[in-house]
Amino acid sequence: MSLRDKHIVIGISGSIAAYKIATLVRLLRKAEASVQVIMTQEATQFITPLTLSTLSNKPVFVDYFDKKTGEWNNHVHISQSADLILIAPATANTLAKCAQGICDNLLQAVYLSAKSEVFLAPAMDLDMWVHPSVKNNIQLLQSYGNVIIPPGKGELASGLVGEGRLAEPEEIFQFIQEHFESNKPLSGKKALVSAGPTYEAIDPVRFIGNHSSGKMGYAIARELSKLGAEVTLISGPTALSTPEGVKRINVQSAAEMLNECNNYFEQADITVMSAAVADYAPTEVAAQKIKKKTEDFSISLQKTTDILATLGAKKREQQTLVGFALETNNELENAIDKLKRKNLDFIVLNSMQDKGAGFAHDTNKITVINKKEEILSFDIKSKEEVAKDICTLILEYQNR
Ligand code: CTP
Repeated sequence: MSLRDKHIVIGISGSIAAYKIATLVRLLRKAEASVQVIMTQEATQFITPLTLSTLSNKPVFVDYFDKKTGEWNNHVHISQSADLILIAPATANTLAKCAQGICDNLLQAVYLSAKSEVFLAPAMDLDMWVHPSVKNNIQLLQSYGNVIIPPGKGELASGLVGEGRLAEPEEIFQFIQEHFESNKPLSGKKALVSAGPTYEAIDPVRFIGNHSSGKMGYAIARELSKLGAEVTLISGPTALSTPEGVKRINVQSAAEMLNECNNYFEQADITVMSAAVADYAPTEVAAQKIKKKTEDFSISLQKTTDILATLGAKKREQQTLVGFALETNNELENAIDKLKRKNLDFIVLNSMQDKGAGFAHDTNKITVINKKEEILSFDIKSKEEVAKDICTLILEYQNR
């Protein structure tokens, strides 16, 4: 598996085993991950920053300030850019500092500002490894959610033989790889998500649109991508930024959205149509700006193609198709009718009667109806949490 686009921050503390990190950096780079190395002063006695900066293709940070350029190595930025922070080798001293929240070097500051998962690979002599204080620190670190990559048994630098050797670079690499794989139950799957409003042109400066913010669809695209799916987001005009790892295609009109959805539907394992597609569009688009000449003015409209129904009609057995319904009355009856008519696996119902549901809110309250017409009601939640609920249902259904 490729670790493409994964950014791994490696913190090296002062142990003879530091030399093994050169091999690990090579393995990670080969797997297309980007690597940022941070070292403690002591670690630079065991392996040169030059070796690691050459292998990682990035400058190695040791101090808060770069003495040559006078630049500040921002520990918050280093931590927040990381998909994973690995401290290897982690000496007894570094483990103790992490466990107690001591911040006396750049590596500790990066550890304390971590937003991602943290892995620690201890390395020390066998007697140190079994000392109760070290054991306590390991337990403390585990209680913070940190992952310990256990040391191996074998010959130690002291000449003694026992447990305490830094895990081999290949083993650490495997830990990292499995971590990214296990969190990605949808890896290898393709997903298509539509979001936002459509704009139907009246003339070169005017259009018929709606209040959809696109927030719900973007949250679903982000969540599916986090679960490992390769996501294409077909988006009407919105002010939102593209979720990480998602391929976004911008469209304006229902006709353009139909066209792009048709292009991607065939390959999609999962399709979620959350866009608020205009049901009607002007029959003709005026070539020039329409002047206000008459007291009354009317526009002739014609029905747009129902994208969801078009996709439903050609859906294969293994494909999962999810639609939305925004209703003001007879909600369940209308939603079930849409579920059947459009050949969906799920329909997500928003009732305008629920406070905090629908357009432009940061929250949503949904009821999901599945193919068997089973009804699942959810509490009012943030759109991110609603996206998680929807994706959990999709995931369970994919594994049926
Ligand atoms: N939809 C679509 N293409 C359209 C209109 C709607 O793909 N031209 C999709 C929406 O993205 C949503 C679902 O259909 O997932 C529900 O749309 P809605 O407009 O509520 O349903 P309609 O079947 O058009 O019924 P009505 O407007 O009468 O409520």
